[in-house]
Amino acid sequence: MKQIILTGDRPTGRLHVGHYVGSLKERVKLQNSGRYDEIYIMIADAQALTDNAEHPEKVRQNIMQVALDYLACGLDPEKSTLFIQSMIPELTELTFYYMNLVTVSRVQRNPTVKAEIQMRNFEASIPVGFFCYPISQAADITAFQATAVPVGEDQMPMIEQCREIVHKFNSVYGETLTEPQIVLPEKASCLRLPGIDGKAKMSKSLGNCIYLSDESEDIKKKVMSMFTDPNHLRVEDPGQVEGNPVFIYLDAFCRPEYFEEFLPEYSGLDELKAHYQRGGLGDVKVKRFLNNVLQAELQPIRERRKMWEQRLPEVYEILREGSKAAKEKASQTLHDVRHAMKIDYFENDNLLK
Ligand code: TRP
Repeated sequence: MKQIILTGDRPTGRLHVGHYVGSLKERVKLQNSGRYDEIYIMIADAQALTDNAEHPEKVRQNIMQVALDYLACGLDPEKSTLFIQSMIPELTELTFYYMNLVTVSRVQRNPTVKAEIQMRNFEASIPVGFFCYPISQAADITAFQATAVPVGEDQMPMIEQCREIVHKFNSVYGETLTEPQIVLPEKASCLRLPGIDGKAKMSKSLGNCIYLSDESEDIKKKVMSMFTDPNHLRVEDPGQVEGNPVFIYLDAFCRPEYFEEFLPEYSGLDELKAHYQRGGLGDVKVKRFLNNVLQAELQPIRERRKMWEQRLPEVYEILREGSKAAKEKASQTLHDVRHAMKIDYFENDNLLK
């Protein structure tokens, strides 16, 4: 069986380091592993419109930003097909057929949908399109016959729901769709990076993000202002590393060689943590180290981003070509789906029999 990746992001803002450790880094690794026959990376503008119908310009403006972030992280248009969701109308048609295979109460139970409805204060005024986005996401995944979906942990319920739709479709209409597997980052610290204010999630609306496009000075300012253990008041006090954002970021980003380079008096992260827990290690020292680590990790990304910013027409062409290729793939699946559902009336004479 062909190994195929599909994944993507809503273009509602520039991507941040939470996206990077939670999913982008993994995608680049998978892309370069040579284990995949086809890789599709989608800018999910249609999904972004499900809760931004009144702000289409916000979605439009962020399409190029997300494309730049992708290229900056090392997604390579020679190996991965980058495309824009709304340019593939086949996805909408698949969604419409899948809608009949899902109950309203099942979508209502989807934990991600539940959380988002609460976060946006939708409650009694949920747009129908927003409510259906898990189904449209199943269309995205199955249209490409994806076997692997590398995403952040928050997307787990979406993949689960997609798998249910695949089962249901295949059992009603015959084996047609491929069941996908979710691919999560290996490190637990990467599953959900907290904001710099210690809040559970990095999010643009909370203003607690470090962006991939942030300048070096901004990164430093943000790191030095980071929330740590609130009870670690004096250097001598014992500190907590669990739940401490500075240490969670170090877990996610630090490589052993950074100790040699920036903090040679410690052998590694375990020793640094032990010192902090024991007392005698100040926050400023740990933050300076984290700043060095983040600068080292993010500098090549920022530089590649700047390079692509000078070549916007090329980025535009990459998206255009990618969308063309994606449309071809999705239309093949739609063809198979129509055939399985026996709604391919003009491809045969079934209606006359
Ligand atoms: N829901 C994803 C996000 O919030 C975007 C997305 C849309 C997606 N369709 C997808 C991700 C299919 C993986 C697979 O960013």
